[in-house]
Amino acid sequence: MPTGTFHKGIILAGGAGSRLDPLTRATSKQLLPVFDKPMVYYPLSVLMQAGIREILLISTPRDIGGYQQLFGDGRQLGLAIQYAVQERPEGLAQAFILGRAFVGNDHCALVLGDNILHGPGLHAKLRSATENIGGATIFGYPVAEPERFGVVEIDRQGKALSLEEKPAKPRTSLAVIGLYFYDNQVLDIAANLKPSARGELEITDLNRVYLERKQLHVEQLDCSYVWMDAGTPESLLEAGQFVRDAEAEQGSKIGCVEEIAFCEGFIAAEQLARLGRSMKNSYGRYLCELSNLNG
Ligand code: TTP
Repeated sequence: MPTGTFHKGIILAGGAGSRLDPLTRATSKQLLPVFDKPMVYYPLSVLMQAGIREILLISTPRDIGGYQQLFGDGRQLGLAIQYAVQERPEGLAQAFILGRAFVGNDHCALVLGDNILHGPGLHAKLRSATENIGGATIFGYPVAEPERFGVVEIDRQGKALSLEEKPAKPRTSLAVIGLYFYDNQVLDIAANLKPSARGELEITDLNRVYLERKQLHVEQLDCSYVWMDAGTPESLLEAGQFVRDAEAEQGSKIGCVEEIAFCEGFIAAEQLARLGRSMKNSYGRYLCELSNLNG
């Protein structure tokens, strides 16, 4: 069993994207713009803030090439990005079947490619999740309509007491968001899952095994965080407006993977400047200014 913290993460960026049809008829949902950058930048930036540099990006046979074009092997961001194809959207937990060789003997995080998470204490929360290496860590976020989500009930220590998928009568208002940290048991748990009634390998079933083993830890996020999944026309627009307004207010970018690569020490100031010069617009100027300030 390996020790130490997490250095691997999977981004799940496939799916049908049917709620965004016809936007997704020719493009992957997670490549659509959320204000000034592709949607997938936001979940990638979350993994990077957790200190994760080895990434497996999973998408559909049609769309995987778009991600390869966007990120290549990730070296320009100080990352090592690999790719895998999911032939059909057969469930979130399939990530750990497709990703078995990638994960090897390590721990591994999973983030959904359409989840946007932002908040003041996020960096510290993520770092503390990477330190829990016995079991799994999931995140609970208070929502107005928990019956639309996976819902978790917790004790005072943050240990999960129950987990329900889209319950008619939710016990709490804590929705399970699309970010998970697992130890290596995840590979065998995923391999032994059976498809649900809707024919998918469900992440809730996977998490339930950790719950039964009393190894499911929950980090609670309060309302100072913003969590959105940009999967409907309304939430896509709302996410873009949120990013535009927050960036204008704070005078810095959200989900900017180039900036985060620099702040985390994955790339040096010269490389940040090089990335900035490759974009002839205000995004590029932003990166150049950052590199000047800190170079
Ligand atoms: P969903 O939003 O549940 O599904 P979807 O993206 O296919 O959209 P729709 O319901 O509108 O058809 O998926 C959550 C995230 O997980 C999203 O980023 C897509 C991804 N995903 C996969 O990559 N593979 C899968 O098998 C599933 C179910 C989802």
